[in-house]
Amino acid sequence: MPPYPPESNQIEDSIYSKSLKVASYLLRGLVPASQRKRDYIKWLRFFKSRFIRLLLLAGPAFAAPAPQVTFYREIAPIIYRNCSPCHKPGESTPFSLLTYEDVKRHAHQIADVTKRRYMPPWPPEAGYGDFVEERRLTAAQIRLIQEWVQQGALAGSSTSSPQETAAEPEWKLGKPDLILHVQQPYHLGADGPEVFWNFVIPVPLSSMRWVKAVEIRPGAGRVFHHASLLVDRAGSARRNEKRRARASREWT
Ligand code: HEC
Repeated sequence: MPPYPPESNQIEDSIYSKSLKVASYLLRGLVPASQRKRDYIKWLRFFKSRFIRLLLLAGPAFAAPAPQVTFYREIAPIIYRNCSPCHKPGESTPFSLLTYEDVKRHAHQIADVTKRRYMPPWPPEAGYGDFVEERRLTAAQIRLIQEWVQQGALAGSSTSSPQETAAEPEWKLGKPDLILHVQQPYHLGADGPEVFWNFVIPVPLSSMRWVKAVEIRPGAGRVFHHASLLVDRAGSARRNEKRRARASREWT
């Protein structure tokens, strides 16, 4: 089993090399040049033996077995906060991550996608500016998930569980000032190719307004992947809408 925490050896290393440096400074001031080298080696040996013994004594303390990672204590808070808001019924995700059973069933896959930072989806490259509500796991969280899966994805005691995700409000960004509906639903067949469909959505406003945020609520989240929005200033989308089948092919 690897020592825990893994960084503990490095701390010892740096104390060790600092002490050697101090020893060499002392020697430089005290002994004549001819003897320096021999004494230096003697001192070096002395320090080495001392510190190696010290390290050996300290070793067992650092090599204590890694603490058991359990779902309810360490993993649930990470999953409920970072995964469940998308991985629940009604969202466009392939499965839910709401319970221990859900997460255990996909444990290996979860270890893989979080390690690759494929999940949670967050395209901005790290280190080029900060975003509000960044959706990125920390290195420590990713390591905990790895350890949990390696140790057998244990449940632990559910009394240490955080509250499961509270029921989400219907609108994620708060109640909107304006709700627009597509005029006609699009029925996607159970089989067939990927479809890009253009909905023309009239906006019943007579004056200019600034838009702070838009939330899209698809009727069938499971089959919906993404949306691009544009303002039809020239009216061409509206003209094409009249020839609906053609519009859907051309506006992708
Ligand atoms: C913003 C929404 C969102 C969040 C947050 C999110 N997921 Fe996903 N996840 C998706 C979508 C959409 C898919 C299906 C499409 C895909 O695979 O890209 C998916 C697919 C997956 C898959 C299957 C990947 C595959 O290769 O088939 C796994 C495993 C997964 N998510 C785990 C997680 C975990 C673990 C978290 C939290 C750390 C998380 N997801 C957070 C939206 C999300």
